[in-house]
Amino acid sequence: MENTYIINTHSHANMLRETNIDKAIKNAQDEKIITIVPSSTAEDIFEVNEFIQKYNDVYGYVGVFPEEVKTFTDKTLSDMENIIRTNKKIIGIGEIGLDYYWDKSFKELQKEVFIKQIEFANQMNLPLNIHSREAHLDTLEILKKYNKNSTAILHCFSGSLEFAKECIKEGIYIALGGVVTFKNAVKAKEVAAEIPLDNLLLETDDPYLAPVPFRGKENQPMYVKYVAEEIAKLRHTTTDEIAKATTQNAERIFNFNAK
Ligand code: NI
Repeated sequence: MENTYIINTHSHANMLRETNIDKAIKNAQDEKIITIVPSSTAEDIFEVNEFIQKYNDVYGYVGVFPEEVKTFTDKTLSDMENIIRTNKKIIGIGEIGLDYYWDKSFKELQKEVFIKQIEFANQMNLPLNIHSREAHLDTLEILKKYNKNSTAILHCFSGSLEFAKECIKEGIYIALGGVVTFKNAVKAKEVAAEIPLDNLLLETDDPYLAPVPFRGKENQPMYVKYVAEEIAKLRHTTTDEIAKATTQNAERIFNFNAK
C-alpha cells in the first residue's frame, strides 16, 4: 500500500463536527489519500471553494444538492462558473441529482435543477457527482436524455447489481463507500464484487456512513481505506489492486495525476 494513492471521490470533510478538520485532512494526506469535497447549497459553493484551497491533496465540486434546490437561482450557475474559472481545484459538478426519500413534494423542481446543472457541466466539460436516492429510474432516464459529454459518477450507489450494469452500459461510474462494510449490505457487497474494476470508484461520504470498525461514529476521509480493504476481500484480491484501479479511473475522469 505504501506507494499507491487512494482517491476519495466524495467527502464532506468541511462538515466534520467531532473530529478536528485539520487533523482529519492530515490523517488522509499521511495515508496518500486525495479527497474531493462536494458542495450542497447555492451558498456553500463559496465555502467549499475556500476550504479546498487551504489544503494539499484536497479538491472540490460545485453543485446544488437535490434537497437544497430551493436555494438554486438564476445567479447560481454564473457563481459556479466564476469559481471554476478562478480555482483549478474545482474538478467537477456535485453533488447534484434526485432524492425522493425525504420529500417528494418538489420532484419537478429537483428534476429541473438537475437538468440545468447537467447542461452546465457539459458546457464546462466537467464530470458529474450524482446523488440518487429512491430515484434510480428517473436519474438514469435524465442522464440518458440530457447528458452529452460529462462523465457521470453515481455516488454512494444504492441500486442492485442489475441496475449497476445498466448504468455501466451508459458509461457511468459506480462509487462505493462505507455501506459495503456493513454486514447486512447484501446488495452493495454484490455490486462491489461483480462490477468491472474499470467502473469502480471509492468514497466515504463522511461525516456520514462510517465503515466498520467505526460504524455509528463520525466518519472521516482516511476511512476510505477500509472501504478499499473490504472491496478487496469481496473480490479476492489485494487492497493495492483496488487502490490502483480506482485511482487510475479517477485520474482519467478528473484529468489529473495523483503522482
Ligand atoms: Ni454527500
